[in-house]
Formats: sequence, structure tokens, C-alpha cells
Amino acid sequence: MVDVILGLQWGDEGKGKIVDYFAPKYDMIARFQGGPNAGHTLYVNDKKIVLHQIPSGVFHENTINLIGNGVVLDPITLRKECEAVASFGVDFRKNLYIAQRAHLIIPTHRALDRASETSKGNEKIGSTLKGIGPAYMDKTGRNGLRVGDLLDKSFTTQYIRLRLKHQKLLDGFNYHEDISQDEEEFFDALDFMRSFKIVNGEYFINDNLQKQKKVLAEGAQGSMLDVDFGTFPFVTSSNTISAAVCTGLGVAPQRIRDVIGVSKAYCTRVGSGPFPSELLDGIGEELRRIGSEFGATTGRPRRCGWIDLVALRYASMINGVTKIVMTKADVLDAFEELRVCTAYNVNGAKSEEIPFQMTRMHLEPVWQSFPGWKIDTSKINSCGNLPSAMKEYIRFIEGFLHVPISHISNGPGRDQLVVNG
Ligand code: GDP
Ligand code: IMO
Ligand code: MG
Repeated sequence: MVDVILGLQWGDEGKGKIVDYFAPKYDMIARFQGGPNAGHTLYVNDKKIVLHQIPSGVFHENTINLIGNGVVLDPITLRKECEAVASFGVDFRKNLYIAQRAHLIIPTHRALDRASETSKGNEKIGSTLKGIGPAYMDKTGRNGLRVGDLLDKSFTTQYIRLRLKHQKLLDGFNYHEDISQDEEEFFDALDFMRSFKIVNGEYFINDNLQKQKKVLAEGAQGSMLDVDFGTFPFVTSSNTISAAVCTGLGVAPQRIRDVIGVSKAYCTRVGSGPFPSELLDGIGEELRRIGSEFGATTGRPRRCGWIDLVALRYASMINGVTKIVMTKADVLDAFEELRVCTAYNVNGAKSEEIPFQMTRMHLEPVWQSFPGWKIDTSKINSCGNLPSAMKEYIRFIEGFLHVPISHISNGPGRDQLVVNG
């Protein structure tokens, strides 16, 4: 059986914390897409760590962690992450496995990301510049290098061939940069990686499923950043939704049981692109300040706004969400009045659907207001003690989405999670 945890908004919903919380119930945690553009924050013994590629189950001694074939993997970042994890006293080599079909991010992928963004002028995607787009382009273009290739003696020849292709592209952008230091670090990191447990991911996971082991698939980014269903072109380069679990791990759809969607009690986005419920006023600033809304990967300030139920309903539909974990509910403690976006006004007409192309139209959110609760909820540990105004807010969202909110997260700490029921 496979359960899935994924983001329902534009990323940074708190997936890392929620995966870490649920991990003890599973035998294996598996990342199925994305790469080091992700930044998943965990608190372990009250100490913060941000994971980029290693699954968020790594701090649980008996949990296997698999980096699946759908991931684009950066060896340099992996090495740094492993060192950070080791500083917590964790023997990462014991339970970390890498699928041989996962594609590698090489230094020129990052250079191409920078060149591409620079060439876009005012139309920048706001990429994390981790080489994600160029690496996925090489995958679908059938040029990429895979983790399994590392073990082949022709690897260096393959690498040089790809690097030459990239050089031509970089010349086309008229982009010149010395990446020799990056390359040196890259080859060191490859040596480090060769000693990992590199496995045939699809057999590995299916053998475990056959033995009745429980798998939790960990998503990165968010559904509104999905390359097909997100706010294209302001999206990432992978499918981030539940369907990607099948292709990103090699499991059949009927293996999937629960799809647990993570959503903030409000909404954020980092990078460019449409964000209908964004608040460009003092309230948006307050959300950023109280919620410490700065990117876990790039440190950029996150754009903030009220929760967008049109987008959430859409995300619940395409993912088949069976329950929702609502995070950062405590951030709303300070507000007198809360709002939720229930529809969009598009050129004077009301719509409850995500349009084909948000960038070329004027969207006005339709709001519904709710009273705030104005008390500190961060230490509450049972549903009965939650303020009635918060319960009303949650009940409305559940009714609107027709999906139960199973848990409410009320702080970044591991144990700050209230079961709703
Ligand atoms: P992810 O990428 O989805 O794993 O999320 P990030 O780690 O990028 O961003 C979530 C941020 O919110 C991190 O700084 C978390 O420590 C923090 N966080 C998670 N849940 C809560 C919560 O319930 N309340 C508060 N105040 N912070 C939270
Ligand atoms: P986690 O897993 C938030 C955004 C970038 C940019 C767009 C494309 O921590 O939720 P890319 O680097 O993929 O080419 O960037 O997607 N983005 C994220 N935003 N959280 C993330 O991951 C993100 N990963 C990418 O800011 O707008
Ligand atoms: Mg993040």
C-alpha cells in the first residue's frame, strides 16, 4: 500500500514536517519528483534542518528512504545534505537508497538555468536556479545521464558529450561563466555517491510492497506548480501531483490508498506568476512576518495572501485528495478578520474554475469573511481546546472542498499537530 503526501498550493506548505510526523507509521519514505529546488524544513531535537533531496523520513532509524527515478538528483547538494544529516548522529548510509533511473543534475544544467532566466528579462520564472528545468529537458530530450550510468566505465565519455551539447546552448545564450570549480566539486561528489546503495527502484519498491510493507510517497513543490496543471509557464518542470507517484517510483495506480494534501491556512508563493489571492498590503506583510515566510532554499521573501479555495478545490480534484492537513493555523492567531477566496471575477463574470491562462487576464478574488480567534493556539494539543472561530473556519473549508481536514498544524515543532475529530 502506498500513501502520498503532497502540497496543494504553490509549495512550502509544510510537507517536510508532516512527512516527518507520519514517517513512524511507514516502512519506506520515497521521493518521486523534483530535486534540490525543494526545501523541506524539519525540527529534530528542536534543531532545524532543511532537506532538499533526501526524503523526510531519514531521522527515523527503522525507515527506509528512497530517492526515486522521478527525481533529478544533484550530487553536490546530496553530499552536503548527507553531511548535515550526519551532524545529527544519523548513519544516512544505512537506510538511504537511490534509484538507478534517477537523472543527474550536472554543473552545466545549473549554468543553463541561469542563462535561460537571464535571457528572459521581465518574464523570469523566478527559478531556484538549481538546474531543474535543463535536467528534465535532457531527460525528455533523451540526452540525460542517470545515476546508474555512474557505475559504467563510459561515464566520463558520456559526460563530456553532454557537456559539449550544453556548451553550444550556452554559446547560443551568449552566456559565459567559469564552472571549473563546480565541476571539481561535482566529480568529488560522484565518488562519494558511488558507494551508495544504488538500486533498481521499481523492483526495490514493488518487492517491499509485495511483502506488505507500507510506503509513503513524499511530494515536492505544490500542485499549482505542476508542469501540466499549474500556472504555466510559471511552474516547475515536473509533474507534482499524485499521478506522478506511479511514474516517479514505478508503482501501479491501484497501489495508492490515501492522498494526503498539505495546505497552509493561508497561501504563499515564491517566484513569479499568477497568485489571485495575494495581498500586497499590510496584511500580506503581517502574514510574512508572523509566518517567517522566507524561502527554505533561496531565502527569498514569499508572497503572501489569504487561502484560495478555487485553487484548493482544483488541486483536490486532480490529486484525488482523501484528506487534508492544514498547516500554520497558528499564524492566523493575530488577525481580527480572516478571508477566504471562494471564486474569481473574470472580466465581470464570476467563475469557480482555474482558467487556462491566468497571466493574460484580470482576476479579482471573491472573498468571504470570518472572525479571527485572537488567542495563542500554538500550545493547544487537543481538538476540543481549539477556539470555536477556528473550528468554524475549518468546517467551512471542509464543506467547500468536500474533503475532511484530518490534522491541524499549529507550530513548526514536531509535536505541534492536532488531530481534528
Ligand atoms: P515544505 O517545502 O512544504 O516542506 O515547507 P517549507 O519547509 O519550505 O516551509 C514551511 C515552513 O513553515 C518551515 O519554516 C516550517 O518550519 C514552518 N512550519 C511548518 N508547519 C508550521 C506550522 O504549523 N506553524 C508554523 N508557525 N510554522 C510551520
Ligand atoms: P518545496 O518542495 C516553493 C518555484 C520557484 C519558481 C518555480 C520554478 O520546498 O515546496 P524551478 O527551480 O523548479 O525551476 O522553479 O517553482 N519552486 C518552489 N516554490 N517551494 C518549492 O519546493 C519550489 N520548487 C520550485 O520559486 O517559481
Ligand atoms: Mg519548501
